[in-house]
Amino acid sequence: MPPTRAALLGPPGAGKGTQAKRIVEKMGLVHLSTGDILREEVARETKLGHQAEEHMVRGELVPDPLIVDMIRKRIEQACEGFLLDGFPRTVRQAEALEEIARLDVVINIELPREEVLNRLTSRRVCRNCGKIHNLRFNPPADPTRCSACGGELYQRDDDRPFVIENRCTVYQQTTAPLIAYYRERGLLQSVDGAQPSDRVFHQIMTVLAG
Ligand code: AP5
Repeated sequence: MPPTRAALLGPPGAGKGTQAKRIVEKMGLVHLSTGDILREEVARETKLGHQAEEHMVRGELVPDPLIVDMIRKRIEQACEGFLLDGFPRTVRQAEALEEIARLDVVINIELPREEVLNRLTSRRVCRNCGKIHNLRFNPPADPTRCSACGGELYQRDDDRPFVIENRCTVYQQTTAPLIAYYRERGLLQSVDGAQPSDRVFHQIMTVLAG
């Protein structure tokens, strides 16, 4: 079987990161999350991190050339197959990706805008292992500690309500057109992200098996 090359699409808070972690573990794929890579660059205070941070704190997209340069080599090196999470996010990025690799499938996780704010204001992430938690929907026993490794939980800078609003607007204007882009290419499969997490995972695995 050739390696799987897939991408997750969906609005902020749809569950891309949550599902991606389970999918790559199950399928042995490389998880390529542009959001995670950028947050690491910011934490390490690299030049790219400084350039990206000013956009990320406002909920804007980081410019396409920086993102494509950042992700290109990682995609080329992922010979065991990959799952893109948060890339592509603009038509320009999608066109650049076509020059780098072909995709087998794009899974669009749908979530109504009114659910996004609920999920993101209560999201907490482990500083140590990166596990994603939610204080409202699946609370850890201790709201300050990771349920997997005991690490400190933190709230992302871009999970403040006015930044979330801007991220949703940017998504609608700039990323949502990719739904039609990939539908026209026969690659799009949509799943309902408002269902319980296990149900969403099951549907995605069914799509990937098919
Ligand atoms: P990024 O990190 O990619 O953020 P995002 O796309 O806005 O997505 P999120 O990480 O917020 O949400 P998610 O869908 O992963 O949801 P999660 O699984 O955590 O990007 C951040 C920033 O980086 C961007 O704003 C931009 O500035 C920059 N950037 C990144 N990529 C870029 C690119 N390609 N081009 C330009 N700029 C880029 O789940 C959310 C919460 O809901 C969690 O608490 C989780 O526990 C909970 N949850 C998940 N599933 C369920 C469920 N089924 N039921 C109940 N709760 C659930």
